[in-house]
Amino acid sequence: MGKTAYRVGILTLSDKGSCGEREDESGPLLAKLVSAIADVVRYQVIADDQEEIILLLNNWVDDLHLDFILTTGGTGLSPRDVTPQATESVLDYQIPGMAEAMRSASLNITPRAMLSRALVGVRQQTLIINLPGSPKAARENFEVLLPVIPHALAKLQGDSADCAVDVD
Ligand code: MTE
Repeated sequence: MGKTAYRVGILTLSDKGSCGEREDESGPLLAKLVSAIADVVRYQVIADDQEEIILLLNNWVDDLHLDFILTTGGTGLSPRDVTPQATESVLDYQIPGMAEAMRSASLNITPRAMLSRALVGVRQQTLIINLPGSPKAARENFEVLLPVIPHALAKLQGDSADCAVDVD
């Protein structure tokens, strides 16, 4: 069977959440959804601050070696939305198809899906996934990727088995 559960970190980006002005709903919701495949070993709410996000992502990858990280919030067009910029600067490479799949599926739900600049990519052997901030959008986007995450992680961690078997 191999590994039973992956180690995931959940990072909520919210100016209001970070100073207690708003309760974070998306982080706990993602924690629940991801529990089918992973143990949540880190959960944090921080402000929409590019440098802080970079420091934290680097720490979770370089020091904690998490298998994957879900961020929620800060992917849109507001002046304080800097999650994709911060993420881009820590990634070794992007996985455009995963981000495209989220936007493609989400466009069937709302045209506003095109406003999310969410990225997905890899730093070292950690998969980093940006999700939008509202609980509804975070869930809808995460559910697109969930079926593929275990296979993506297995590949990242050096599984050389072929990809022929479709898990759906
Ligand atoms: N994707 C889905 N599936 N459902 C949604 O409701 N909301 C959109 C978009 N993606 C949405 C979605 C909206 S309104 C915005 S502004 C962007 O995500 C960015 O959200 P963020 O700034 O909270 O990250």
